[in-house]
Amino acid sequence: MTLLDQTLEDTRATAAATGASATERFRADKASLADTPPERVSTLAREVLEAVHATIRRHDVTYDEFNALKAWLISVGEDGEWPLFLDVWVEHVVEEVNSAQRAGSKGTIEGPFYVPGAPRGTGSTTLSMRADEPGTPLLFTGTVTSVDGTPLPGALVEIWHADADGFYSQFAPDIPEWNLRGAVVADEDGSFSIRTVQPAPYQIPTDGSCGKLIDAAGWHSWRPAHLHLKVGAEGHQLVTTQLYFPGDPHNDDDVASAVKPELMLDPRPAEDGNGAEVVYDFVLDRATTEG
Ligand code: DHB
Ligand code: FE
Repeated sequence: MTLLDQTLEDTRATAAATGASATERFRADKASLADTPPERVSTLAREVLEAVHATIRRHDVTYDEFNALKAWLISVGEDGEWPLFLDVWVEHVVEEVNSAQRAGSKGTIEGPFYVPGAPRGTGSTTLSMRADEPGTPLLFTGTVTSVDGTPLPGALVEIWHADADGFYSQFAPDIPEWNLRGAVVADEDGSFSIRTVQPAPYQIPTDGSCGKLIDAAGWHSWRPAHLHLKVGAEGHQLVTTQLYFPGDPHNDDDVASAVKPELMLDPRPAEDGNGAEVVYDFVLDRATTEG
């Protein structure tokens, strides 16, 4: 590889670069040990291992296949792709069991690309974007209420999404820090308004270990276009969710299994003739009181 090739390579959104950023982000925000008692650790670890053993027996797994698995697991770590792997193929079930008791708006997976502390507006905001930001303009409005219908002024709606090329700021090179990331504080009546551009479908990195698994299994690497959101208010449970656009070919076979019918938007042509507008209202469950 020449120096020029290497430089070009370094500026692309490679699996290794994206994975390293996702790993760093995860360590900064979430990598603390859960306070799990030894009996529970033992049960969970044993049952996962038993599921692996049963698969090996059922399919007469060979030594070559065992060694290929070992090599692959080692490379997932080297690529920093554990956050991506776990969020694509495991998180949706964790989300499902942890939100089963909720009556308010549906949540779904957070994925690896949330960054706290994005610039914040009050009532209405326009996400920071480049002067020549590609994509169809999108006006997103809605309200935040409690399960009993009470508006929640002061609720915080955080939003982040890929650009029209399918890349996330802070995880792909050459995109300004807070591009297409922002937050808005709901007004007195719980309403909010966000101007942005429509995201493109997202392809999980194909040149790393997750891509190798997808190739080897004959799967595909696509997620439908989506907006990521976190909606929270005092005394209420935070909802982490995503919203999707009708007609996307991957709404029915999302690689991350994170689409739910309740999360489908209904875009219409914008009243001002500029792009599309969507309305989505969030309903928050009350915080569970402990003790
Ligand atoms: C991944 C990326 C996403 O944007 C997302 O929503 C879920 C998972 C990933 O690359 O793992
Ligand atoms: Fe995403």
